[in-house]
Amino acid sequence: MSEKNPFPNESNTGHFWDDNLRELANDPPSWWRIGFHLSWILVVVYTIYYPSWPLIDSHFKGIAGWTSIGEYNEDLQAIEKVRAKYEDQLPGMSASAIIADDELSSYVMRSAKVLFGDNCAACHGAGGAGNSGYPILADDDWLFGGDVDTIVQTITGGRQAVMTAHGKILSEEEIDKLANAIVDGKVASEPLFMEKACFACHGADAKGMHALGSVNLTDGIWRFAEADQLASVKYTITHGVNDASDPQTRSAVMPVFGGTKLSETDIKKLAVYVYKLGGGQ
Ligand code: HEC
Ligand code: HEC
Repeated sequence: MSEKNPFPNESNTGHFWDDNLRELANDPPSWWRIGFHLSWILVVVYTIYYPSWPLIDSHFKGIAGWTSIGEYNEDLQAIEKVRAKYEDQLPGMSASAIIADDELSSYVMRSAKVLFGDNCAACHGAGGAGNSGYPILADDDWLFGGDVDTIVQTITGGRQAVMTAHGKILSEEEIDKLANAIVDGKVASEPLFMEKACFACHGADAKGMHALGSVNLTDGIWRFAEADQLASVKYTITHGVNDASDPQTRSAVMPVFGGTKLSETDIKKLAVYVYKLGGGQ
């Protein structure tokens, strides 16, 4: 840094290096100054217009009267208005009437998807794809029946099908015979099926009875699907389903959603959704 200013006629700060390298003290360019002033003016206008400064026990509300919750409520009202066109019709309609109306049922499908995700998917899987121990809802194989009124009943009142445990009634050999015939899809022609009264619940053709929720034993769609299906079938025959007298019994409980859990309209929506997922009848 040199002592004397070799450039007395220019506005510099008096800091020099290497003879002619020096720090100038020019005004900032005008685009920068304009930008600077615009930005603080914007801040002032913004804080007057919108809610801004904290006060002792509240805050400055702004002259625009805007609040984020107000904006949210306005948006919500706009959505409710679109929904109301459909929602207002639903309480007075039966589920089958909703299915018959294309526009309504496509609205219901979208609306019930969320309901299904919140209430049903944990057990039945996303889109009703089923889970180990929980029936698939996206196929046309029904335990209790796939007409929409039955589906409404299932959701409203819940279901808990019962199969007696047969471990103490049948010999190991008999269980083995029945299980093999079931896995081969030929149980209807297995004499034990009649002798041991399996038909009383599963029907003479072994295709199941909707009134009892007894599965079709001939279609290879497994209610209790396991890697070793023969072992799974033997287990079901031995310990039954929801048979309180056998501590190892399989548990199959479809909870009650009627009453306080879901409104009638929500249940109707879900029934239409399940019906349309795949295999309504
Ligand atoms: C806690 C687990 C669970 C939840 C949650 C659940 N389910 Fe189920 N659901 C079951 C079980 C288990 C069965 C079979 C009951 C049986 O075998 O007795 C079933 C059966 C059904 C059936 C009968 C299927 C048929 O083949 O006849 C329908 C329909 C159904 N559920 C719909 C729903 C809907 C809609 C929801 C949501 C509102 C729901 N479930 C929530 C466990 C559940
Ligand atoms: C009291 C009625 C009843 C009787 C008797 C009965 N079942 Fe069942 N069975 C059911 C019901 C109901 C289910 C389905 C339970 C469910 O899905 O919640 C079932 C399920 C089954 C399953 C499970 C199939 C699968 O897909 O995983 C097999 C296997 C079975 N029964 C075999 C038999 C055999 C063999 C007999 C005769 C020894 C028999 N059942 C007698 C009611 C009965």
